[in-house]
Amino acid sequence: MKMPKKLVFLIIIALISLLIWIYHTSNFDYNSSVLVLKQNNYFRSTLIQPSNTSCNRNPFLVIIITSYVGHVELRSAHRRAMPPDYLASLRVTRIFLLAKIPTNERYITQEAINDENNTYGDILQGSFFENYRNLTHKHLMGLEWASSICKNASFILKVDDDTVFNFNRTYNFLKKLPKGDKNLLMGYVLNNTLPRRNKQNKWYVTFEEYNRNIYPPYLSGWYYIISPKIASVMCEEAMYNTYFWIDDIFVTGLLSESLGLKLKELPKNFWLEYYELLECCLRDMVTKSMKCDYVVGPNGGRNNLIVEFNEAYNNCQARNCTQRPKDHDLKTDCIVGKERAIFSDGQAEVHHINM
Ligand SMILES: *[C@@H]1O[C@H](CO)[C@@H](O)[C@H](O)[C@H]1NC(C)=O
Ligand SMILES: *[C@@H]1O[C@H](CO)[C@@H](O)[C@H](O)[C@H]1NC(C)=O
Ligand SMILES: *[C@@H]1O[C@H](CO)[C@@H](O)[C@H](O)[C@H]1NC(C)=O
Ligand SMILES: *[C@@H]1O[C@H](CO)[C@@H](O)[C@H](O)[C@H]1NC(C)=O
Ligand SMILES: *[C@@H]1O[C@H](CO)[C@@H](O)[C@H](O)[C@H]1NC(C)=O
Ligand SMILES: *[C@@H]1O[C@H](CO)[C@@H](O)[C@H](O)[C@H]1NC(C)=O
Ligand SMILES: *[C@@H]1O[C@H](CO)[C@@H](O)[C@H](O)[C@H]1NC(C)=O
Repeated sequence: MKMPKKLVFLIIIALISLLIWIYHTSNFDYNSSVLVLKQNNYFRSTLIQPSNTSCNRNPFLVIIITSYVGHVELRSAHRRAMPPDYLASLRVTRIFLLAKIPTNERYITQEAINDENNTYGDILQGSFFENYRNLTHKHLMGLEWASSICKNASFILKVDDDTVFNFNRTYNFLKKLPKGDKNLLMGYVLNNTLPRRNKQNKWYVTFEEYNRNIYPPYLSGWYYIISPKIASVMCEEAMYNTYFWIDDIFVTGLLSESLGLKLKELPKNFWLEYYELLECCLRDMVTKSMKCDYVVGPNGGRNNLIVEFNEAYNNCQARNCTQRPKDHDLKTDCIVGKERAIFSDGQAEVHHINM
């Protein structure tokens, strides 16, 4: 079979145009990633670093806590729930991730933050302003610090300052994990989350910010575990990705997707999605000497809850609390009143739990 010369010619022209088009589009991508690189660099310059002894003793665990600069009381609650000396005795290091005081903030001064740094040496303050649209910078700043300064640590735990978690159970859980797992990325996996396209929603995202119809699976930023190795690879990868401001989706979703990482699920009995459930679990420990085996939940705006929760658990250990009876499941026994947006996209505010 013989093709007409004209047709061959047309095909060649088409192929050349296609190649030129591919070349131009990839060139465009290249240019935009260079821009992104500059933008993502915010997290590499800091105003305050944790004391240089923080990671001297090859820590077992590094806890990084994102904290709004004005949340002095919440940081104090974390320090009371898990005193620095106690943590040090277990080779655990904890630092708080802060940013610059926003111009409209009237209740906190940089002098107070400097004092806090001088007293505790557990502050890492970025040189970008506090804003929820800057949370990705803050999140990466923490991973970067932990994975470079404490790269010998076995695990990094990322939590928010308003997360309540049981330290004893966290520690014992991590002790049982295989130490050498350099690819560990484990938390509460959120699948099939859709971007909010309604302008009224706090998590409203434009198509320019994110143009796909679904987010990749990601981990709740409340509490997740990551190995220093993966954290460092992610910070590297972040330089070549377009900045996206919803931090847990960007870091544990988009970055781990582009790196082909697998998200592991924490045991189901770790999580209390609602503050009311945590409150109930705490009350039953105190008044009924009934064990509370859940590890993580929201503080519902109660700064001191993390102290009470850990104290009650430790007392319960000493008092030999009883197991919660099978027919008194917490999630059916407790009333959950208000709906809450527990994960950063507000998707998880689903069920009311009835008596
Ligand atoms: C920590 O910093 C002090 C000065 O601020 C310095 O003298 C000391 O050598 C440093 N220690 C380490 C382990 O880097
Ligand atoms: C933070 O505290 C350390 C001592 O722990 C001190 O060396 C450093 O200068 C302090 N930084 C600021 C900005 O105050
Ligand atoms: C994020 O931080 C940068 C650097 O401080 C600042 O210019 C910018 O306004 C902040 N973004 C928001 C949304 O506040
Ligand atoms: C990490 O461990 C290696 C080998 O065990 C050691 O040589 C190095 O000094 C440690 N690094 C830090 C930052 O502790
Ligand atoms: C979420 O998706 C992952 C794979 O992407 C799957 O392994 C996991 O079972 C899913 N979890 C839920 C709760 O659907
Ligand atoms: C934490 O758990 C261990 C058991 O692994 C127990 O021996 C220890 O007393 C607990 N610590 C506190 C403060 O309850
Ligand atoms: C705690 O309870 C277990 C089982 O109910 C029992 O075997 C143990 O002796 C108790 N320990 C104390 C200190 O009461």
